[in-house]
Amino acid sequence: MAETTIDLRRLSRSEAYDELRTQTEAVLEGIHDEVAAMATMSALIHHGFGHLWTGFYRVVEPARRLRVGPYQGTLGCMEIEFGRGVCGTAAAERRTVIVADVAAFPGHITCDPRSRSEIVVPVFRKTGELMAVLDIDSDRPAAFDEKDGEGLERALRWFREHV
Ligand code: SME
Repeated sequence: MAETTIDLRRLSRSEAYDELRTQTEAVLEGIHDEVAAMATMSALIHHGFGHLWTGFYRVVEPARRLRVGPYQGTLGCMEIEFGRGVCGTAAAERRTVIVADVAAFPGHITCDPRSRSEIVVPVFRKTGELMAVLDIDSDRPAAFDEKDGEGLERALRWFREHV
């Protein structure tokens, strides 16, 4: 099977996230492996939308510590405490955090200085336990809004349904 990542930028955002969900289901059919799923989704989202950095920070100590997981982009920082930076805030508050201007976000952790805006979305297991956060960085200011939040939350429901 020759999988290709589809360029989602040609579609409207709602169509793009529908397509992402369809692609995710198709590529991961029969797979209930969270690492394979994180790697696959990072690739689909990163190349589909042309982001600067796309990847997961996994909960390695509940309510305390995140550690980098599968990602696409330049070297990411290894560990983030709950409550620190955008990722740690999303994890601690179990909600999507959208940052239009990373320079204005107190405690933002800079991994790639080209990053201008960011979205972080929590990932939950079937049990409702927080498993990870998905972090996406853009080199454009204000690249993300609620529509991206909803679309990504929809894609990440895969984890709630499969792991
Ligand atoms: N900017 C993130 C840290 C992770 S990197 O951008 C890959 C944050 O503030 O949580």
